[in-house]
Amino acid sequence: MKIRITKTAKSSIRILFIFEDSKKLPPDFKGTSGEVSVRHGTDAVNIYCGLGKEELCTERTLKTACAKGIQKVLELKKERVSVILPEIKRFSSMELLSALKGAILGSYKFVKYKSEKPVSIDTIDVVSSRSITVQEISRTEIIAESVNYARDLVNENAHEMTPARLAKEAKNLSKSSGMKVTVLDEHDINRLKLNLIKAVGESSPYPPRLIIIEYTGNLRSKENVLLVGKGVTFDSGGLNLKPSGSMETMRSDMAGAAAVLGVMKSLGALKPKINVTCAIPACHNAIGSKAFFTGDIYKSYEGLTVEICSTDAEGRLILADAISYCKKRFKPASIIDLATLTGAILISLADTAAGLFSNDDELAAKLIDSGEKTGERLWRMPLYQEYSDSVKSEIADLRNLSKLKKGYAGSSTAAAFIKEFTGDIPWAHIDIAGTAWNDSSPKGEIPQFATGYGVQLILDYLLKN
Ligand code: BES
Ligand code: ZN
Ligand code: ZN
Repeated sequence: MKIRITKTAKSSIRILFIFEDSKKLPPDFKGTSGEVSVRHGTDAVNIYCGLGKEELCTERTLKTACAKGIQKVLELKKERVSVILPEIKRFSSMELLSALKGAILGSYKFVKYKSEKPVSIDTIDVVSSRSITVQEISRTEIIAESVNYARDLVNENAHEMTPARLAKEAKNLSKSSGMKVTVLDEHDINRLKLNLIKAVGESSPYPPRLIIIEYTGNLRSKENVLLVGKGVTFDSGGLNLKPSGSMETMRSDMAGAAAVLGVMKSLGALKPKINVTCAIPACHNAIGSKAFFTGDIYKSYEGLTVEICSTDAEGRLILADAISYCKKRFKPASIIDLATLTGAILISLADTAAGLFSNDDELAAKLIDSGEKTGERLWRMPLYQEYSDSVKSEIADLRNLSKLKKGYAGSSTAAAFIKEFTGDIPWAHIDIAGTAWNDSSPKGEIPQFATGYGVQLILDYLLKN
């Protein structure tokens, strides 16, 4: 996709933004947020996108509106468009460019397996009276393309997107940006006694990996943030096999991994002066004769023993080992994990917000702020002592399924399990099982299928703090 900055609209298709309180509304157009209308003129097609009341307009409003606009361009089977940025005085140029972000995100479609490829956007002219710089355009593009990259990883077949392939993706990122990548394979995982990762990955023909990416933007500091992404490349449930209806989308169980890879891709290109370590425990939770058993007890890397009560509660197991290992090796100042961890978070929040669990109010508040700004919302959930008590085992130190009634506080008890491995390091766990995947039709910048949730949220947080 080519993006150009122009002073006048060069394309005969134009996206224009209208406020509800604008003095000159086009006929039969109210300018409400979400409203879109295509008007064929004599020499141009105007696509009007409503932004609602000007004082209430946020970056998200603009991003969503432009995404809807670009979808009209695609419906018209056009490849070029001029996006005429609105003038919003209180918005910086970068904030105005959330329209461009919306255009790139809104035109995404996973077409790899479609024999007939639909029209795609070839050129976007960004038209503004402001002096938008090439750097600002490039920053916007880098972030939006990283989201689309994460979407591609999740949408890909699970037979392709194996733990080894995720490792290859990490290595490719390092080639283009100089980040250090370490891949621990099944032999290393065995030797290092990362027994929980070993257990979950054991019965798959695609052996597990622990992938580590180190981004060092500030050589003078040792301080680093640890990002962990759940990388279950397919979750069959293991011997606690998932029923039909619950397994169909389980190639998306590596959406946490995809999100952190998207974040690292952007960091490698934007080169901010911060240090970020990224860890991806990658496993295929398969059913088979070598699959781990329920009732068995494994010793985690941390040293805590874990009674396996369900092989389908595998995410917390691999996250635990990844966190323990990286805690020891990198001594992070804070930990943020993203994981499609529980179906229960969908019951609580649907796909409207991801669940946030944290032992640190300041970290939680900053993340919630970034969520509001990017539209990748977070809702904080509790980590009461009762939930921690519920994951204590009678026969081992911990159990991977809570003792509460089936289905009760499922997301909080999963988070409470992970909490046992974080020590007193400020930590945030983001349960993205509801937000990583969109089963229905596109919603503005959020496409059907993989959404790329988390990339914008975490980048906003990291680049601000
Ligand atoms: N990967 C699933 C969670 C999930 C559910 C992700 C729906 C995306 C959509 C996770 O590994 C899982 O199976 N969780 C179980 C936990 C239960 C066994 C305690 C669940 O949510 O049912
Ligand atoms: Zn599972
Ligand atoms: Zn899972």
